[in-house]
Amino acid sequence: MIDLAPFRTHFPALELSHQGQPLIFFDNPGGTQVPQQVIEHMSTYLRRSMANVHGAFATSQRTDSVVDGAHAGLAALLGGQPAEIVLGANMTSLTFALSRSLAREWQPGAEIIVTTLDHDANITPWRMAAADVGATVLQVDINPADCTLDFDDLARKLSPRTRLVAVGWAANAVGTLTDVRRVAEMAHSVGALCFVDAVQAVPHVPCAVHALGADFLACSAYKFFGPHVGVLWGRREHLQRLTPYKVRPASDDLPWRWETGTQNHEGQAGIIGALEYLGGIGISFAEQYYERVAEADGQRESLLMAMHAIADYERTLCAYLLERLGALPELTIYGITDPARLDERVPTVAFRHSRVHPDAVAQHLAQAGINVWSGHYYALALVERLGLLDSGGMVRVGLAHYNTRAEIDRLIAALEQL
Ligand SMILES: Cc1ncc(COP(=O)(O)O)c(C=O)c1O
Repeated sequence: MIDLAPFRTHFPALELSHQGQPLIFFDNPGGTQVPQQVIEHMSTYLRRSMANVHGAFATSQRTDSVVDGAHAGLAALLGGQPAEIVLGANMTSLTFALSRSLAREWQPGAEIIVTTLDHDANITPWRMAAADVGATVLQVDINPADCTLDFDDLARKLSPRTRLVAVGWAANAVGTLTDVRRVAEMAHSVGALCFVDAVQAVPHVPCAVHALGADFLACSAYKFFGPHVGVLWGRREHLQRLTPYKVRPASDDLPWRWETGTQNHEGQAGIIGALEYLGGIGISFAEQYYERVAEADGQRESLLMAMHAIADYERTLCAYLLERLGALPELTIYGITDPARLDERVPTVAFRHSRVHPDAVAQHLAQAGINVWSGHYYALALVERLGLLDSGGMVRVGLAHYNTRAEIDRLIAALEQL
């Protein structure tokens, strides 16, 4: 396993402290910290290149190359083509926009499938678009014992009436990784499309959109060490066929026909920085393990190597977190806890304390300099299904590759004080 500890020094925020103790970031599923490269790319853009696109002058031309670099880099991260990468404010806005365009192809009586495991950003846009055209929404249940998707229920709900299956790759509340390839195959077998919410997967696992079989995949750069920019990948044929809601003068070419208005160019510069940082992890990994330089093989390979290295490191860290949390008698953990099944989850762990309200646990941890979220984190359907909506949801500890065992030890010590 590659030692990722040296990469902590790239993150200025990891030097912050709270009452004399280093601040611990376990709030990563809500948004990660950024490496220095992101800050530098963003400030350089703002100092040297601030302009709109496609002008004859240098600042605009530099903006064009930032925009092209961000699209190319994200295509390398996800495994698609730059023309298939659509950027926008965030995943939620992009999903609402896409849902309206897709709904133009749905007839009354059409069926849309969403899941109980998902963040509301992958449920409500589809519910509202379906309501606009008289389509029906069916919600696939979970296996509550381990918070995995109930594939039998999905099979029962699929039919020739199904137009779209919207599925999450990694659950933001409990960390379950769903076999989205299997979901996409099932969707395609009845002639439906498959939309994958990869917001919580892309920071943790390698992504190859074509191998997944998805038609659309959305993620958000602020969850993978970048700034607040949303990302949508779509198969070229769909992005070309569907009608985007756009103004007349805007280009009809891909991907611009889907990017409404002036984009967050400084954010796109930051994305280039985040991908440079991740690529650096991949190159170290290649040098350490394969005794060659990955850079020569291109950005996609170094990003894939980085994500393999991150997944390996996080699996070990997650095993440790689960082991330590599992040893605390007053905690109940939701989701997969079996050490033999860590490939089926990302290191996002949700739990409840038998006596202390989740918000009070989060407050206690904040006092100890440990950032965690409590509540439902917009995974409304899941928290409701678990019967926890009225009692405050869960406490969520979400690891990133810059977290350490020593930080987990501090978390456990703070929980023991409750
Ligand atoms: C799984 C998942 N989907 C969607 C979203 C929404 O993303 P955004 O904030 O980019 O709209 C989040 C945000 O936390 C999420 O965790």
